[in-house]
Amino acid sequence: MLVKWSPEYAVGVPAIDRQHQELFSKINDLLEACNRGEGKQVLGEVLSFLESYVQIHFGTEEKAMIAQAYPEYAAHRNEHKEFIDNFTHLKAKFEADGPGIWLVALTNRIVVDWLKNHIIKTDTKLGAFLSAKQNS
Ligand SMILES: [Fe+2]
Ligand SMILES: [Fe+2]
Repeated sequence: MLVKWSPEYAVGVPAIDRQHQELFSKINDLLEACNRGEGKQVLGEVLSFLESYVQIHFGTEEKAMIAQAYPEYAAHRNEHKEFIDNFTHLKAKFEADGPGIWLVALTNRIVVDWLKNHIIKTDTKLGAFLSAKQNS
């Protein structure tokens, strides 16, 4: 099943919302590549694209938090770190075991579920803070 953007994921900062949509699209690229039964090389490339985009995205949010002296920066950044750790684990397992149905299951659990939860609970708070700053 692919991930679908919906307004409940909007954080109210256009640049961040665009990046989240792009992340959903890159996750779908990965899930579709799994569905097509792509081999290790293609899947490895798709995983790397997703990983670099995640890093760009976390960088965008973290820079904004620092620039605006966001009080919950440390906790928010820890959540990003937790994701990177999980993703690193997924990639290591992929390097060791290669493609398999486990990849879809693990992607759904540690990438899709994590991201939806993080956007709704954590990024929306940041979005509200940044929007309020911009309007003050
Ligand atoms: Fe975030
Ligand atoms: Fe985010």
